[in-house]
Amino acid sequence: MLEKNIKISCQNIWKIFGPTPESILDNIQDYEGATKQDFLEQTGHVIAVKNVSFDVYENEIFVVMGLSGSGKSTLVRCINRLIEPTRGSVLIDNDDIAQMDKDALRELRRHKLSVVFQYFGLLPHRSVKDNVGFGLEIRGEKGREKDEKINAAIEQVGLKGWEKNQIDELSGGMQQRVGLARALAIGSEILLMDEPFSALDPLIRRQMQDEFVNISSEVKKTVVFITHDLLEAITLGDRIAIMRDGEIVQIGTPQEIVSYPADEYVSDFVKDVPKGRVILAKHIMSQPDLIINREKNLNETIEEMKANENKITFVVDDRQRMMGLMTIEQAEESLAEGKTKVHEVINEEYPSASRNDTIEDCLYLDNTENLPVVVLGRNKRLLGMITRQTIINSMQSGNITNEDNTEQ
Ligand SMILES: Nc1ncnc2c1ncn2[C@@H]1O[C@H](COP(=O)(O)OP(=O)(O)O)[C@@H](O)[C@H]1O
Ligand SMILES: [Mg+2]
Repeated sequence: MLEKNIKISCQNIWKIFGPTPESILDNIQDYEGATKQDFLEQTGHVIAVKNVSFDVYENEIFVVMGLSGSGKSTLVRCINRLIEPTRGSVLIDNDDIAQMDKDALRELRRHKLSVVFQYFGLLPHRSVKDNVGFGLEIRGEKGREKDEKINAAIEQVGLKGWEKNQIDELSGGMQQRVGLARALAIGSEILLMDEPFSALDPLIRRQMQDEFVNISSEVKKTVVFITHDLLEAITLGDRIAIMRDGEIVQIGTPQEIVSYPADEYVSDFVKDVPKGRVILAKHIMSQPDLIINREKNLNETIEEMKANENKITFVVDDRQRMMGLMTIEQAEESLAEGKTKVHEVINEEYPSASRNDTIEDCLYLDNTENLPVVVLGRNKRLLGMITRQTIINSMQSGNITNEDNTEQ
């Protein structure tokens, strides 16, 4: 596995709003167990972010999810230093942003880190092109190079042909794309996105989510994405941090969150999530019972299958590449017809999936014969298999049912 670079590191971040946050924080132990309301009444302060630590890896989409008021926006604002944390530090590429002077901070915001809010502050009476180019203009960029960046970004978000239209002529979804294109044009490595799709109606929103997944896998950005919607978090996130009352209560992959919610707050979010869209092939695949080289003799193979009571065998070549499946019936028929080698018999049409396909994808594969789904890696390397029963079990329970598999 490749080593993961840490792009953003948040270390013990606190943010308390009110007249004397630091002295409140010095005596924070006096208020243990106080509700937010109690705390406000007793102290006149609000704890928006409470001792939060996490790392975001390079090129991952890290989602922060929680109910409204849980501290998400305050947290992202600490990351680009729109807000100073009361305590704790934020490192970006190992640089402590609290130590940056004005110039360094301006550099950071102009080149390395872009923010995409729900309302982008688009200029309504100016064209798509001008809006997308806005960040570049501020940076003083001109001429052909600037135009090329603008055009590439417009193309990436699917707005080609709309360059000259005014913002107020566009639908909400299209305006959202303009905002995204503006951030892409700047070319920054980090995108901070605070509920960018929340104001869109559900259909457009799903469409934007799908496109965003595509765009971000192409352009390779480190993204911190804020949402209050778990399904959105699951669709987009490589990892998800769940916030409640300023604290992070769980960090994990979508599958970990759904299968092993840390507490009742998380289970409440998770209970309506369609498991089929979250659990992936790699989570439930197992090793095939019998893997046979394609050059093997048919009669020996049949004997082996019978001895082990295997109804089906997985046939590979010398390099473990998947060649096909062979059932015991096919094998016996072919032997009777005078065939001698396994590769003369195999069925090359079988349902297959990749490690990261959802189990819902696996369930809907064309598979009238009820064959196991073959999980393939690069160059058709055989990684594992999934029976239909395993898929159905895991969709029902939401837990990983296949016990041999927890190590993988
Ligand atoms: N400038 C501020 N002054 C006082 N309280 C604030 C301020 N900004 C946010 N808060 C409070 O901090 C808490 C977290 O807010 P916020 O970060 O906006 O949450 P979220 O984005 O998850 O909805 C809320 O209780 C909010 O009322
Ligand atoms: Mg918010």
